[in-house]
Amino acid sequence: MPSYKWLFNVKDYLDEGEIEVNVPDEFRIGIKGKIVPSREAKDLVAYLFSLQQVKLTEDVEPVKFLYKKEKKSEGNSTDSNLPDGEALFGTNCATCHQTNGEGLPGAFPPLKGSPIVLGENLELYITIIMKGYDPRPEYASMPAVGENAHFTPEDVTAIINYEKASWGNNGKKVTVEEVKAIMDKIK
Ligand code: HEC
Repeated sequence: MPSYKWLFNVKDYLDEGEIEVNVPDEFRIGIKGKIVPSREAKDLVAYLFSLQQVKLTEDVEPVKFLYKKEKKSEGNSTDSNLPDGEALFGTNCATCHQTNGEGLPGAFPPLKGSPIVLGENLELYITIIMKGYDPRPEYASMPAVGENAHFTPEDVTAIINYEKASWGNNGKKVTVEEVKAIMDKIK
């Protein structure tokens, strides 16, 4: 995405009622001072908010993908050779299924308590992640998220194990070997 610098002004101090945009240092590209949205920028954001189609339930947490750092050092010690499943979920799945795993009624099913996440049919679970899913009219359709993002067996294992152990889920973890065998089969 290109930067739309002309929608913002740089000022030494804020006038009353003005909002400062807290741009992280690595994105300031030499800009000093306070970055303030113009009238056009605020109108644009107001318009984008007005496009909201599905009403968010009140306890939906904000999606954590903006400016996300690559990896966290802490985490589940048994999965220490795997990528960070929480970060992969945040980037690839949370926009629809939500950070709290509860989905959105009428659009995206919950993964919290999901029979697929907690069940034994690992081939179906992996096929959904790699190739997408659209069996039910009451939900939107899920695109081929995994194929589009070129997920490796390690990525898929990390995401599945994160989902099986989050939001109160308590499913049996899977290994990279199991996942790789299924990914080779469904390719
Ligand atoms: C663009 C939105 C979108 C994204 C991104 C997305 N999904 Fe989905 N997902 C859906 C929809 C919609 C369904 C339900 C489709 C249906 O039943 O018709 C679904 C269904 C599922 C199911 C089945 C749940 C159940 O209990 O039926 C699983 C598991 C799942 N998704 C996992 C994931 C994972 C893991 C990711 C990230 C790698 C992901 N999804 C990314 C939209 C999305």
